[in-house]
Amino acid sequence: MKDIFTAPFVKEMEATTANMYHLGWDERNGGNISYMLDEKEVSEYLDLDNVIRTIPTGFNAKELIGKIFIVTGTGKYFKNVESDPETNLGIIRIASDGETAELLWGYKDGGKFTSELPAHLMSHTERLKIDPENRIVMHCHPDYTLALTQAHEMTERAITRTLWQVMTESIVVFPEGVGVLPWMICGTNDIGAATAEKMKQYRLVIWTLHGIYGCGKDMDEAFGLIETVEKAAKMYLLASHLPQINRITDEQLRAVAERFGVNYRKDFLDI
Ligand code: 13P
Ligand code: ZN
Repeated sequence: MKDIFTAPFVKEMEATTANMYHLGWDERNGGNISYMLDEKEVSEYLDLDNVIRTIPTGFNAKELIGKIFIVTGTGKYFKNVESDPETNLGIIRIASDGETAELLWGYKDGGKFTSELPAHLMSHTERLKIDPENRIVMHCHPDYTLALTQAHEMTERAITRTLWQVMTESIVVFPEGVGVLPWMICGTNDIGAATAEKMKQYRLVIWTLHGIYGCGKDMDEAFGLIETVEKAAKMYLLASHLPQINRITDEQLRAVAERFGVNYRKDFLDI
């Protein structure tokens, strides 16, 4: 058996959470990540017959039965993952009832997975239908994205247009636009279901006055999506109090999207 502390998926969780913490996107216990793992790869590090304990999830994830995830712990700080991954992370498998998580490693202090597990697993379920390669769901609280939700009309069309108009690469990175939820109570099955519903169309979902979700086939895709939204939100907010002299026009947005061959939301343009 190989040493779990050297596993690439543990190392990736450590590096990503540390990076996000240093960017200021994950204050205190803010943010959570789930990463669907390959059973064969995990079996090189863990005895898959050894279930440490079982934890009810509070919802049914029947389409993920048998799937294994490494997930950040609830109440745990991204800041601390790198120095103590076994306490701050856990590896869980969805049991045959679809409603129980079998703990295979981690949550060493008796803890459990993020309170946002419904949003994560429901989003994994929906994204796998669209992209069978999807592995990551990532949530965090980036400054400018959050600030934008205080001051901007919170419709998908309006938010997407603003993010596209201030930075040329935005429409190339997220041509499908950005999903938006109104303010809702976090950590519930309701916000989980609402997020997953948006994930049918979008890889990015902004939670008003809370944060953002991104997903993808690997950490780079999920992180890169969030990073690009955050950069565009920053560009917008840095200049929104100044006279607006230059903006990318709808014709220019169309031209960039066509040049890069991306399938963009044409109904988000006024052409
Ligand atoms: P957890 O500590 O339960 O992961 O919650 C953090 C968070 O960001 C809630 O939305
Ligand atoms: Zn949050």
